[in-house]
Amino acid sequence: MCGIVGVAAERDIAPLLLDGLRRLEYRGYDSAGLALLDNGGLKRLRRPGEVARLVEEFERQPLEGEVGIAHTRWATHGAPTEQNAHPMFAGERVAVAHNGIVENYEAIKEELTTGGVVFSSETDTECIAHLIDAELSAGKDLATAARDALARLKGSYSVVVLAAAEPDAILAAHRGAPMVVGLGESENYAASDIAALLPVTRRYRFLRDGDLALLTRGSVEITGAGGEAVERPMVESEFGPESVERGAYRHYMQKEIFEQARAVRDTLLPLISGGLPDASMFGPEVGAKLGEITAVHIAACGSAFNAGLVARQWIQDYAKLPCTVEIASEYRYRPPPCPPNCLFLAISQSGETADTLAATRAARERGYRAVLALSNVATSSLVRNVEHSLLTRAGLEVGVASTKALLTQLAALAMMALALARARGSREEEIRSLTQEAAALPGLIEQLLEMDGRLAELAGNFRGREHVLFLGRGPMWPVAMEGALKLKELSYIHAEAYAAGELKHGPLALVDDRMMIVALAPNDGLLHKLRSNLEEVRARGGQLFVVSDPDANLGHEDGMIALRLPAPPTALQAPVLYTVPLQLLAYHVAVQKGHDVDRPRNLAKSVTVD
Ligand code: G6P
Repeated sequence: MCGIVGVAAERDIAPLLLDGLRRLEYRGYDSAGLALLDNGGLKRLRRPGEVARLVEEFERQPLEGEVGIAHTRWATHGAPTEQNAHPMFAGERVAVAHNGIVENYEAIKEELTTGGVVFSSETDTECIAHLIDAELSAGKDLATAARDALARLKGSYSVVVLAAAEPDAILAAHRGAPMVVGLGESENYAASDIAALLPVTRRYRFLRDGDLALLTRGSVEITGAGGEAVERPMVESEFGPESVERGAYRHYMQKEIFEQARAVRDTLLPLISGGLPDASMFGPEVGAKLGEITAVHIAACGSAFNAGLVARQWIQDYAKLPCTVEIASEYRYRPPPCPPNCLFLAISQSGETADTLAATRAARERGYRAVLALSNVATSSLVRNVEHSLLTRAGLEVGVASTKALLTQLAALAMMALALARARGSREEEIRSLTQEAAALPGLIEQLLEMDGRLAELAGNFRGREHVLFLGRGPMWPVAMEGALKLKELSYIHAEAYAAGELKHGPLALVDDRMMIVALAPNDGLLHKLRSNLEEVRARGGQLFVVSDPDANLGHEDGMIALRLPAPPTALQAPVLYTVPLQLLAYHVAVQKGHDVDRPRNLAKSVTVD
């Protein structure tokens, strides 16, 4: 989604802004632009398409300035054209870059147009620039003008503003969407994501909802929702520029897949103590309550939702607790009844997904015993807005399609399920042995990654397909969903996942010799059932691609492509391990089709609008 970066310094900052934009590219966008205060006047350059196009244009007509803002736009209102790219101007007096949506912009636009303002774009953002311009013309200073203008807007958003009237300053506002202030030596920064600022600082102040920050090269003044001066704590980040280097890998996604053993190991390490799950993983207060928990509600989006579905099975099987998993945007509008002593868990890699944040806000009003977050980003809005959180240790994930973040979520969720089971009186020996199975995951993931070459070969079978069906049963159903999600988002092949038993209730009608069916076949109690499903597919000419345990004895039949895991996983390990070949498969299919694997079309890394 959109990204913002702003800098106030004592040097020419155009290169810094362009570098910041490159670092925000991973979030997904379709146009880019920057505006600088150059000798007191506002200048801008905008281009549809990639930041590289903006950089080319910049080289032809360079701009200079010591104070400026820049933006990558993911179109919501109006096509991704130059006219609709940010920063938006009101004359050459005010420039605004904006993330999120102004819900009441139509009414404001109508009012401004009636008053004689001429709009040059189709965006909701432009009305912010004109409103601030009007307040400045009434003689207000930038902070007051911005506060009064923003008070008229509805929605969830963040903005940065430049005004020719205050040429040393950048105004940054957090209204439900993230905004962070970076602190430098004789320079200060604002950004929607610390990724933009990694090479220039590790010191941040995270704005809270309703905050405004006025930055100059030498000062940062933050005011809260009521206009009062506030202090926001300075946070030193563990992430440096190396956190987002691609190294020798061809794509971030490839690097992130290959980092998974390390990421899962780092995530598991602090969650296991004395060979058992650490009950205090969400803090001692939650640990003390675990034995009283009667149910778990999970809300999440995308891959994190699939992780939640796997966790449901573990929580049911090991802790014997009912667990519901909702897509966060659904939870907001039809939350399940909240029984006494129920836990709520939001799962979000970024901790910035608008629907997951909104679901969590709703959950906080509903009398849960505790509202928990599982996230990969310690400084995210989600983590900052709940009392109890658990961090995965994936490191920064740049590829839009989640890989290492998902696997670390699964690892953490397995330990959470075991902690609940232990607190509810399961036999210690059983929990100890399941904990050992979890602890063995990093080594097993490493073995699986050796299948990379084979998957690159097999990917050729998918290149020309238009439809792929993923089948799984039990905990393999959400794994099939994740496999279908990865394939469709990266390769643009239509892919769907079905619980294998549902095959006869509809999807079988689609099966013919053009259809590829990926079946996940661990050697569990459901294998014989799955075998019958596969026969139904074969009888109709469907091409089968079966991922199975080495001892499942599948794949000898004609026309069946078989991929066997190197070692048979346990029931706890299987959902984690079966995910890895599906990630590699989707990666190779997309690479072979010549797609931008790290930035699939129309998608964003964290969806900060609802
Ligand atoms: C986007 C990403 C997915 C991700 C989902 C949820 O759709 O493309 O990869 O799973 O958001 O993101 P979150 O940061 O909340 O886990």
